[in-house]
Amino acid sequence: MQPYQEFLSEILIDEPALRQRIAELGAEISRDYQEADLLLICILRGGLVFMVDLMRRISVPHQIDFMAVSSYGSGARQSGGSVRLTLDLKTDIRGKDVLLVEDIVDSGNTIAYVLEFLQTRQPRSLKVCTLLDKPERRETPVPIHYCGFTIPNKFVFGYGLDLDEYYRNLPFVAVVDTAKYHPTE
Ligand code: IMP
Ligand code: MG
Repeated sequence: MQPYQEFLSEILIDEPALRQRIAELGAEISRDYQEADLLLICILRGGLVFMVDLMRRISVPHQIDFMAVSSYGSGARQSGGSVRLTLDLKTDIRGKDVLLVEDIVDSGNTIAYVLEFLQTRQPRSLKVCTLLDKPERRETPVPIHYCGFTIPNKFVFGYGLDLDEYYRNLPFVAVVDTAKYHPTE
């Protein structure tokens, strides 16, 4: 993998901005879920870094779980349309107040699938918290109850979001300069 400095176009959201906004989201969620039986569900792998930071800003008692989905025959940068479950939850969500934690809502297909699938298990409530929203790319309308940042239609990486599975560890969200990124080298 190329050093990211070679194809980084700009840092879109830096560490202090992420920290500040996630603290605000945590406070908002803590207010809204005071009387609840909150279960945070991280959608792997992109939601991991966000959830680990967000949960430490949530002051009400809650549980966590993980699930994973993938799009049929497409990488993260193509819009899939068809989504399937690759890792199921350990928790019985019936009667629980479920909050999905996602890195980015792009086409909306992933969240639409997950919401429909989880609804059949009869949680008490089911809401969506996404770090990033790219509304220009939406194909399927989905409800977003908590959103960190609305971003333009650019491919981003870092802070959980990958570039061909690399660089999820970066502490900021950055834009790829596609002319300078050479995936096959
Ligand atoms: P969807 O198109 O809303 O179904 O999003 C599918 C998934 O594609 C997201 O959960 C992300 O993991 C990934 N994705 C979408 N846009 C980006 C991006 O700009 N960078 C990295 N991953 C992305
Ligand atoms: Mg994702």
